[in-house]
Amino acid sequence: MEITITTAESLNAKPAPDRLGFGTLFTDHMFNMDYDPDQGWHQPRIEPYGPIGMDPSTMVLHYGQGVFEGLKAYRTADGRIQLFRPQENLKRLNKSSRMLCIPEFDESFLLEALKKLLQLEKDWVPNAPETSLYIRPTIIAMDPFLGVRASHTYRFFIILSPVGAYYPEGFNPIKIQVTREHVRAVRGGVGEAKTLGNYAASLLAGDKAHQAGYTQVLWLDGIEQKYVEEVGSMNIFFVIGDELITPALNGSILPGITRDSVLALGRKWGLTVSERQISIDEVVNAHEAGLLKEIFGSGTAAVISPVGELNYDGQILQVGGGSVGPLSQKLYQAITEIQYGAGDDAMGWVEPV
Ligand SMILES: Cc1ncc(COP(=O)(O)O)c(C=O)c1O
Repeated sequence: MEITITTAESLNAKPAPDRLGFGTLFTDHMFNMDYDPDQGWHQPRIEPYGPIGMDPSTMVLHYGQGVFEGLKAYRTADGRIQLFRPQENLKRLNKSSRMLCIPEFDESFLLEALKKLLQLEKDWVPNAPETSLYIRPTIIAMDPFLGVRASHTYRFFIILSPVGAYYPEGFNPIKIQVTREHVRAVRGGVGEAKTLGNYAASLLAGDKAHQAGYTQVLWLDGIEQKYVEEVGSMNIFFVIGDELITPALNGSILPGITRDSVLALGRKWGLTVSERQISIDEVVNAHEAGLLKEIFGSGTAAVISPVGELNYDGQILQVGGGSVGPLSQKLYQAITEIQYGAGDDAMGWVEPV
């Protein structure tokens, strides 16, 4: 398929790289492609960024049949632009699509389309330390129809947003609240898909945690509310004694690409790495025994997010004495060095644009 390019008549001024936030500014162009049963995915095109015309009955607005991804393009010190494991994001997008009855797309074609869009928008990739260009591929159900069934037509789009450093004030531990009142997802549901409703379902618990002075929610499993699943919209890791532990993928956890990268580096460094069930009681007991050394979240936005305090039913667990643990620090540095081209890419994770 040929990708047509229509360039914008006027280009927006690029923001100052030291004044970037997250998700508020968008570049001049976007990628669009449509699906219908006769033509399959067709008409791939790069066009000026702009609104999507849709009928008020468009299915995604009513039934949430949509999936998305989040990844970043990084500028290296010598000015090149690169992606971090983008094939994994495209693979996960197709997996999410299968779970939401959305037709799959050709991953290698989409990687080429993304690179084409990035080449056109290369001046939008900021160059200040720890800034990047956030990439949001999205697929939405487009049939104008009321009634619960899979849509017959879809729109695939990619938008780009320059984003600032996640830790402008430095890499500091966050406070999290364990919730037993709400669950994010259940096994057999769509927790392992990156789909719209999972994020809507997380809002109320997040609001309550914020009101109580906590940054994120720690989610327990949806059946017994006993086993740890994720933190906010990140995967979660514990260092207990000499073991690096993350909950095993059980169907209700999003299989994070940062999670996978942490596991791979941990194994490469010779650590004892476990993907297994971990109950909140095990965490509390390890804390009481003085064995809970670190807790951290992992995800594209923050890379590694150290946790300094856990509130479990009013019981406060302090972790790491207010400072960032050595493994959190080492992982953050190793992963960001690869992303920004400062470190050796021995794992083959970097994709040049
Ligand atoms: C619910 C949830 N869990 C975990 C992650 C971390 O995934 P990744 O490391 O691929 O960004 C994300 C972010 O995409 C997420 O939304």
